[in-house]
Amino acid sequence: MQLADVPSLRAALLTWYHANKRDLPWRRTEDPYAIWVSEIMLQQTRVAAVIDHFKIFMDRLPTVTALALASEQEVLALWSGLGYYRRARMMHKAAQSLVANHQNALPSTSVDLRKLSGIGAYTSAAIASIAHGEPIAVVDGNVERVICRLAGWEEASGAGATAQDREIGSLANRLLDPAHPGDFNQAMMELGATICLPRNPQCTACPLFTECKTRGEHKTTPRPKMQSRPIGYALVLRKTRSRQATQEVLLEQRPAAQSVMPGLWELPMLNTPEVPEEDLLLAVRHSIMQVNYNVQVRSATAKTVRAHTVEGGERHWISLTQAASLPLTGLARKILKRLELLPAALS
Ligand code: ADE
Repeated sequence: MQLADVPSLRAALLTWYHANKRDLPWRRTEDPYAIWVSEIMLQQTRVAAVIDHFKIFMDRLPTVTALALASEQEVLALWSGLGYYRRARMMHKAAQSLVANHQNALPSTSVDLRKLSGIGAYTSAAIASIAHGEPIAVVDGNVERVICRLAGWEEASGAGATAQDREIGSLANRLLDPAHPGDFNQAMMELGATICLPRNPQCTACPLFTECKTRGEHKTTPRPKMQSRPIGYALVLRKTRSRQATQEVLLEQRPAAQSVMPGLWELPMLNTPEVPEEDLLLAVRHSIMQVNYNVQVRSATAKTVRAHTVEGGERHWISLTQAASLPLTGLARKILKRLELLPAALS
């Protein structure tokens, strides 16, 4: 890419961004904490899923101190449905270390941000550029694709990928507008998310069309194959005998040592995933990464549940009101919501 083209590329991208950017709640703030929360939530998660979680999270835990003082169960409950719960645990740890060692504030440079748990090259660059105007390029998967297409590079895999990552980072930093690094970075990510799409790029609407070496003539990466898997759960309800007859549901907490979703709460899992039609309470689909789960739910009683399920953790009777604020797995929350068993708030 000719360096002479760079100023017009920056101007075209920023003009497009100001006219077309989505109105997202974390774009209405310069609070580094809010930007941190949003960038961690946005990793590997769709914007649409993040918006409501972000608002509720910021409402409940509006500062680094509030996050540090919250229990892990509360943080996980606020994360429920976003997946990749390790991100929430690491952010919680980082907030606690900021309260212990850094006057409750995030550091302001990318170098110091990277020392915190869960903050790598991408997140540190995003926070430092958006909240503090540090001229450092953010490179996520979307930006990698935009840069490769602009430069006419085929996206490398395997052994060539590391060398190409360096080239991508170096070109991203050359293109970055040092006068508006936060907007420039967000504009590159926005372009990748809305125009320079992996399989169906909208080249005629692209502000960088004249500078682009590829213009739609790119190789498309095949869509990863989704697997299908059946899975079943038991819904076991009981009424308490107290005066305000509240309903309780039998939930199971995944052991802390489990590698996937440790400490999260779910319904007891059936030992055979297919439920006979006469016992079927609900059928839903749920996707996690490359797997489409065909989920079936049957009802059971305190007496029959043992025969129908495999025990994967400690079981507890939990009132439905309390269940809403527990860190449920995204699937458990979806099932209870579909069955209209969760109160509206936080469900
Ligand atoms: N993806 C992750 N962070 C983003 C941001 N700040 N703007 C646009 N897309 C993003």
